[in-house]
Amino acid sequence: MKKKYLIANWKGYLDARQSRKVAATLCSIRIPRAVTAIVCPSDSALADVTKVLHGSSIQIGSQNIDLTGRRSVRAAKDLGCRYVIVGHSSRRASGETDAMIARKLNLVERSGLTPILCVGESAKQHKAGQTNAVIEKQLSRVLKTFHGKQLIIAYEPVWAISVAGKGIACPPSTAFATAGHIRAFFRKKFPRLRVTLLYGGSVSSTNIAQYVDGKHFVGALVGFASTKPAEVKAMLRALS
Ligand code: PGA
Repeated sequence: MKKKYLIANWKGYLDARQSRKVAATLCSIRIPRAVTAIVCPSDSALADVTKVLHGSSIQIGSQNIDLTGRRSVRAAKDLGCRYVIVGHSSRRASGETDAMIARKLNLVERSGLTPILCVGESAKQHKAGQTNAVIEKQLSRVLKTFHGKQLIIAYEPVWAISVAGKGIACPPSTAFATAGHIRAFFRKKFPRLRVTLLYGGSVSSTNIAQYVDGKHFVGALVGFASTKPAEVKAMLRALS
Protein backbone atom coordinates (compact mmCIF):
# COMPACT_ATOMS: atom_id res chain seq x y z
CA MET A 1 0.00 0.00 0.00
CA LYS A 2 1.20 3.50 -0.85
CA LYS A 3 2.24 5.54 2.18
CA LYS A 4 0.14 8.53 3.10
CA TYR A 5 1.59 11.80 4.35
CA LEU A 6 0.56 14.05 7.17
CA ILE A 7 2.69 17.19 7.18
CA ALA A 8 2.18 19.61 10.05
CA ASN A 9 2.99 23.20 9.18
CA TRP A 10 2.93 24.95 12.54
CA LYS A 11 3.68 28.33 10.93
CA GLY A 12 3.98 30.89 13.77
CA TYR A 13 1.11 29.54 15.86
CA LEU A 14 3.22 28.13 18.70
CA ASP A 15 6.08 29.70 20.63
CA ALA A 16 9.09 27.58 21.64
CA ARG A 17 7.57 26.43 24.94
CA GLN A 18 4.21 25.51 23.36
CA SER A 19 6.02 23.77 20.51
CA ARG A 20 8.00 21.59 22.95
CA LYS A 21 4.80 20.73 24.78
CA VAL A 22 2.85 19.79 21.65
CA ALA A 23 5.84 17.81 20.33
CA ALA A 24 6.08 15.90 23.62
CA THR A 25 2.37 15.01 23.40
CA LEU A 26 2.80 13.88 19.79
CA CYS A 27 5.56 11.50 20.94
CA SER A 28 2.96 9.55 22.88
CA ILE A 29 0.75 9.07 19.81
CA ARG A 30 1.24 5.88 17.84
CA ILE A 31 2.07 6.76 14.24
CA PRO A 32 0.39 4.22 11.93
CA ARG A 33 2.86 2.38 9.69
CA ALA A 34 0.91 3.49 6.65
CA VAL A 35 1.59 7.16 7.39
CA THR A 36 4.69 9.33 7.14
CA ALA A 37 4.27 12.08 9.74
CA ILE A 38 6.37 15.22 9.44
CA VAL A 39 6.37 18.25 11.74
CA CYS A 40 7.58 21.65 10.49
CA PRO A 41 7.98 23.89 13.56
CA SER A 42 8.66 27.61 13.50
CA ASP A 43 12.28 28.62 13.01
CA SER A 44 12.76 29.56 16.64
CA ALA A 45 11.41 26.22 17.89
CA LEU A 46 13.12 23.96 15.34
CA ALA A 47 16.12 22.96 17.46
CA ASP A 48 14.01 22.29 20.57
CA VAL A 49 11.35 20.29 18.73
CA THR A 50 14.04 18.19 17.02
CA LYS A 51 15.37 17.23 20.46
CA VAL A 52 11.91 16.37 21.78
CA LEU A 53 11.03 14.25 18.73
CA HIS A 54 14.42 12.48 18.65
CA GLY A 55 13.86 8.72 18.64
CA SER A 56 10.17 9.00 17.68
CA SER A 57 8.91 8.07 14.24
CA ILE A 58 7.94 11.66 13.48
CA GLN A 59 10.24 13.39 11.03
CA ILE A 60 11.23 17.03 10.96
CA GLY A 61 10.93 19.61 8.23
CA SER A 62 11.83 23.26 7.93
CA GLN A 63 9.17 25.81 6.99
CA ASN A 64 11.64 27.61 4.76
CA ILE A 65 15.30 28.13 3.98
CA ASP A 66 16.96 31.43 3.23
CA LEU A 67 19.00 31.94 0.10
CA THR A 68 21.31 34.02 2.25
CA GLY A 69 21.45 34.68 5.94
CA ARG A 70 20.07 32.89 8.94
CA ARG A 71 18.49 29.57 8.03
CA SER A 72 20.63 28.05 5.29
CA VAL A 73 19.83 24.62 3.94
CA ARG A 74 22.99 23.40 5.66
CA ALA A 75 21.75 24.66 9.01
CA ALA A 76 18.37 22.99 8.47
CA LYS A 77 20.11 19.71 7.62
CA ASP A 78 22.42 19.94 10.62
CA LEU A 79 19.37 20.41 12.82
CA GLY A 80 17.95 17.12 11.57
CA CYS A 81 15.49 18.32 8.92
CA ARG A 82 14.78 15.92 6.09
CA TYR A 83 12.17 18.05 4.38
CA VAL A 84 11.88 21.74 3.49
CA ILE A 85 8.71 23.61 2.52
CA VAL A 86 9.40 25.81 -0.51
CA GLY A 87 7.17 28.44 -2.09
CA HIS A 88 4.44 28.55 0.56
CA SER A 89 1.83 31.16 -0.34
CA SER A 90 2.79 33.32 2.66
CA ARG A 91 6.35 33.52 1.26
CA ARG A 92 5.10 34.24 -2.22
CA ALA A 93 2.89 36.99 -0.74
CA SER A 94 5.91 38.56 0.91
CA GLY A 95 7.75 38.81 -2.37
CA GLU A 96 9.25 35.39 -3.10
CA THR A 97 9.45 35.01 -6.88
CA ASP A 98 9.40 31.84 -8.98
CA ALA A 99 13.10 32.41 -9.69
CA MET A 100 13.87 32.45 -5.95
CA ILE A 101 11.73 29.37 -5.42
CA ALA A 102 13.59 27.58 -8.22
CA ARG A 103 16.93 28.36 -6.54
CA LYS A 104 15.70 27.15 -3.17
CA LEU A 105 14.34 23.98 -4.71
CA ASN A 106 17.75 23.17 -6.16
CA LEU A 107 19.58 23.98 -2.94
CA VAL A 108 17.27 21.66 -1.00
CA GLU A 109 17.53 18.87 -3.55
CA ARG A 110 21.32 19.09 -3.87
CA SER A 111 21.74 18.87 -0.14
CA GLY A 112 19.86 15.57 -0.10
CA LEU A 113 16.70 16.90 1.54
CA THR A 114 13.22 16.52 0.06
CA PRO A 115 11.47 19.70 -1.06
CA ILE A 116 7.76 20.19 -0.40
CA LEU A 117 6.80 22.61 -3.16
CA CYS A 118 3.58 24.60 -2.62
CA VAL A 119 1.50 25.80 -5.54
CA GLY A 120 -1.94 27.37 -5.67
CA GLU A 121 -4.12 30.08 -7.08
CA SER A 122 -5.50 33.21 -5.39
CA ALA A 123 -9.22 33.86 -4.85
CA LYS A 124 -9.25 36.25 -7.80
CA GLN A 125 -7.56 33.76 -10.11
CA HIS A 126 -9.92 31.03 -8.90
CA LYS A 127 -12.99 33.16 -9.64
CA ALA A 128 -11.62 34.04 -13.07
CA GLY A 129 -11.25 30.33 -13.92
CA GLN A 130 -7.46 30.58 -14.12
CA THR A 131 -6.54 27.86 -11.63
CA ASN A 132 -4.98 25.39 -14.05
CA ALA A 133 -3.13 28.05 -16.01
CA VAL A 134 -1.70 29.63 -12.83
CA ILE A 135 -0.48 26.31 -11.45
CA GLU A 136 1.05 25.26 -14.76
CA LYS A 137 2.92 28.52 -14.88
CA GLN A 138 4.17 28.17 -11.31
CA LEU A 139 5.32 24.61 -11.94
CA SER A 140 6.92 25.28 -15.33
CA ARG A 141 8.91 28.25 -14.10
CA VAL A 142 10.09 26.62 -10.93
CA LEU A 143 10.93 23.21 -12.37
CA LYS A 144 12.74 24.46 -15.47
CA THR A 145 16.09 24.07 -13.73
CA PHE A 146 15.20 21.22 -11.37
CA HIS A 147 17.21 18.02 -11.81
CA GLY A 148 15.93 16.00 -8.88
CA LYS A 149 14.17 12.69 -9.34
CA GLN A 150 11.41 13.15 -6.81
CA LEU A 151 9.37 15.90 -5.31
CA ILE A 152 6.48 16.47 -2.94
CA ILE A 153 3.94 18.96 -4.28
CA ALA A 154 1.30 20.51 -2.03
CA TYR A 155 -1.61 21.98 -3.93
CA GLU A 156 -2.97 24.71 -1.68
CA PRO A 157 -5.68 27.01 -3.08
CA VAL A 158 -4.58 30.25 -1.40
CA TRP A 159 -8.21 31.23 -0.76
CA ALA A 160 -8.78 28.00 1.19
CA ILE A 161 -5.88 28.45 3.63
CA SER A 162 -7.24 29.20 7.09
CA VAL A 163 -6.43 32.04 9.41
CA ALA A 164 -6.17 30.44 12.85
CA GLY A 165 -8.51 27.65 11.81
CA LYS A 166 -11.09 29.85 10.12
CA GLY A 167 -11.24 29.39 6.38
CA ILE A 168 -13.34 28.42 3.40
CA ALA A 169 -12.68 24.80 2.57
CA CYS A 170 -12.37 23.96 -1.11
CA PRO A 171 -14.94 21.32 -2.17
CA PRO A 172 -13.06 18.02 -2.62
CA SER A 173 -14.43 17.61 -6.16
CA THR A 174 -12.91 20.99 -7.13
CA ALA A 175 -9.56 20.01 -5.58
CA PHE A 176 -9.69 16.64 -7.37
CA ALA A 177 -10.20 18.32 -10.74
CA THR A 178 -7.04 20.37 -10.14
CA ALA A 179 -5.18 17.25 -8.96
CA GLY A 180 -6.08 15.58 -12.23
CA HIS A 181 -4.73 18.54 -14.14
CA ILE A 182 -1.47 18.59 -12.14
CA ARG A 183 -0.95 14.86 -12.69
CA ALA A 184 -1.58 15.23 -16.43
CA PHE A 185 0.89 18.13 -16.53
CA PHE A 186 3.61 15.98 -14.98
CA ARG A 187 2.89 13.01 -17.25
CA LYS A 188 3.34 15.26 -20.24
CA LYS A 189 6.15 17.61 -19.18
CA PHE A 190 8.13 15.70 -16.54
CA PRO A 191 7.34 12.03 -17.06
CA ARG A 192 10.40 10.84 -15.15
CA LEU A 193 9.83 12.92 -12.03
CA ARG A 194 8.30 10.96 -9.14
CA VAL A 195 5.65 13.26 -7.72
CA THR A 196 3.88 12.87 -4.39
CA LEU A 197 0.79 15.07 -4.52
CA LEU A 198 -0.69 16.49 -1.32
CA TYR A 199 -3.58 18.81 -0.58
CA GLY A 200 -3.57 21.76 1.81
CA GLY A 201 -6.04 24.44 2.95
CA SER A 202 -8.41 24.23 5.94
CA VAL A 203 -7.77 20.52 6.37
CA SER A 204 -8.82 19.02 9.70
CA SER A 205 -9.87 15.68 11.13
CA THR A 206 -13.39 16.23 9.86
CA ASN A 207 -12.46 16.50 6.17
CA ILE A 208 -8.98 14.97 5.69
CA ALA A 209 -10.32 11.62 4.48
CA GLN A 210 -12.39 13.40 1.83
CA TYR A 211 -9.27 14.95 0.28
CA VAL A 212 -6.76 12.16 0.82
CA ASP A 213 -8.36 9.40 -1.19
CA GLY A 214 -5.03 7.86 -2.27
CA LYS A 215 -5.81 8.50 -5.92
CA HIS A 216 -5.91 12.28 -6.30
CA PHE A 217 -4.01 13.15 -3.14
CA VAL A 218 -1.85 10.90 -1.00
CA GLY A 219 -1.53 13.24 1.94
CA ALA A 220 -2.18 16.65 3.41
CA LEU A 221 -0.21 19.72 4.44
CA VAL A 222 -2.04 20.97 7.50
CA GLY A 223 -1.64 24.31 9.27
CA PHE A 224 -3.77 25.30 12.23
CA ALA A 225 -5.35 21.89 12.98
CA SER A 226 -1.88 20.33 13.18
CA THR A 227 -1.05 22.40 16.27
CA LYS A 228 -3.68 20.46 18.25
CA PRO A 229 -2.53 16.98 19.33
CA ALA A 230 -6.11 15.63 19.48
CA GLU A 231 -6.63 16.74 15.88
CA VAL A 232 -3.33 15.16 14.80
CA LYS A 233 -4.35 11.90 16.44
CA ALA A 234 -7.74 11.96 14.72
CA MET A 235 -6.18 12.83 11.34
CA LEU A 236 -3.67 9.97 11.65
CA ARG A 237 -6.55 7.64 12.41
CA ALA A 238 -8.48 8.93 9.39
CA LEU A 239 -5.47 8.26 7.14
CA SER A 240 -4.72 4.75 8.35
P1 PGA B 1 -4.41 25.65 7.16
O1 PGA B 1 -2.94 26.01 6.59
O2 PGA B 1 -4.47 24.15 7.29
O3 PGA B 1 -4.50 26.35 8.50
O4 PGA B 1 -5.39 26.16 6.19
C1 PGA B 1 -2.37 25.26 5.54
C2 PGA B 1 -1.05 25.86 5.11
O5 PGA B 1 -0.91 27.09 5.08
O6 PGA B 1 -0.12 25.13 4.76
